[in-house]
Amino acid sequence: MDHFQYREGQLYAEALPLTELAERFGTPLYVYSRAMLEAHYQAFDDAFGEHPHQICYAVKANSNLAVLNVLARLGAGFDIVSGGELERVLRAGGDPHKIVFSGVGKTADEMIAALKAGIHCFNVESAAELELLNLVAGEQGLVAPVSVRVNPDVDAQTHPYISTGLKDNKFGVDIDEAPALYQRAAELPHVEVLGVDCHIGSQLTSLAPFEDALHRVLKLVDKLSAQGIAIRHLDLGGGLGVRYRDEQPPTPAAYVAALLKHVPADMPIHIEPGRAIAANAGVFLTQVLYLKPTAHKNFAIVDGAMNDLIRPSLYSAWQDIVPVTPHSADCRHWDVVGPVCETGDFLGKDRALALETGDLLAVRSAGAYGFSMASNYNSRNRPAEIMVDGDQAFIVRQRESYDDQLRLESLLP
Ligand code: LLP
Repeated sequence: MDHFQYREGQLYAEALPLTELAERFGTPLYVYSRAMLEAHYQAFDDAFGEHPHQICYAVKANSNLAVLNVLARLGAGFDIVSGGELERVLRAGGDPHKIVFSGVGKTADEMIAALKAGIHCFNVESAAELELLNLVAGEQGLVAPVSVRVNPDVDAQTHPYISTGLKDNKFGVDIDEAPALYQRAAELPHVEVLGVDCHIGSQLTSLAPFEDALHRVLKLVDKLSAQGIAIRHLDLGGGLGVRYRDEQPPTPAAYVAALLKHVPADMPIHIEPGRAIAANAGVFLTQVLYLKPTAHKNFAIVDGAMNDLIRPSLYSAWQDIVPVTPHSADCRHWDVVGPVCETGDFLGKDRALALETGDLLAVRSAGAYGFSMASNYNSRNRPAEIMVDGDQAFIVRQRESYDDQLRLESLLP
């Protein structure tokens, strides 16, 4: 259910009007709905029924401590890609034994931290990484649990920047070369083979690529079993898409059902959804600073910008922009742009909106890859983040100050 709904002419987050949040906390502002985060997580969890599984939320989608904590309380595991994400999960009360560590460039220090924390599994992305992990684990007197992330060479039919399962992507190990790497892993003294891992891309809106990849992974599992290497879980990655505009992505239930059709009942499955849990559980709230109609185009200049929400600029991603308090001013087509000094600084183009200076706009589907990709470009303070829970609102990250921004810099003596 969508907890960002209009009531009496105003857009609400759960039981609170967004106008009230803007007044209390200022703009630009990220607003998350606890109920939606929980419902999206639960939809995956319920879909598995009795099948052994672990949902490892992809921290990169939204790594706010409160978001991680809300999910940890439901029993979530976490997919991390850096030492920073490990630290966040631990501080948010996440269970280290439910962490999987993905990423092509893990450093020795990150490996040590993850080994000491006792994470569930390293998703190893290259032969060189496997060798280093074995060495590092040996030095720590530990054994590293591993899966090899295989690249099944399937086309996820998504944006090229977020497609990861093709042969010319940097991710994973060619699935045809995986048996040899597993053989090597089985011989190394300080790693222990646990599973097979695969993630083919993000914002997928059909099941076919997931099923293609799964078939190839299952064939590999058979091959490995013939080699005497037993696989104890499948990590099938994240990537389930969401509705930004008119996409019709499969529901979590349909997606999980498609996986369960093919996987033996006693084979535990891990998945790593990020966007499908967080995206539609958040909005980005921004205020119109100036209206600038011109002969060629109408610009609505708002206080939020590409540094706060980069998806439109970076991927030409379309996210809905809706008025918080719709009114009957003149409806025109506007490019909704920010104050950053780049032509590519826009949140949306050519949007039909009735606007007046001072209006509040909500950019929908901003809970994933929103704040987590924000920067201080143009020396702008990053926005505050708010979590709404029923009729209560909590600041889960304060608005940055100039002191926060400048704290690590110094002048020459
Ligand atoms: N697991 C791995 C290994 C990943 O690389 C990713 C995302 C996920 C899980 C989570 O995928 P999701 O369920 O969120 O699709 N910044 C881009 C998305 C980049 C995704 C990178 N990897 C965007 O804003 O669209």
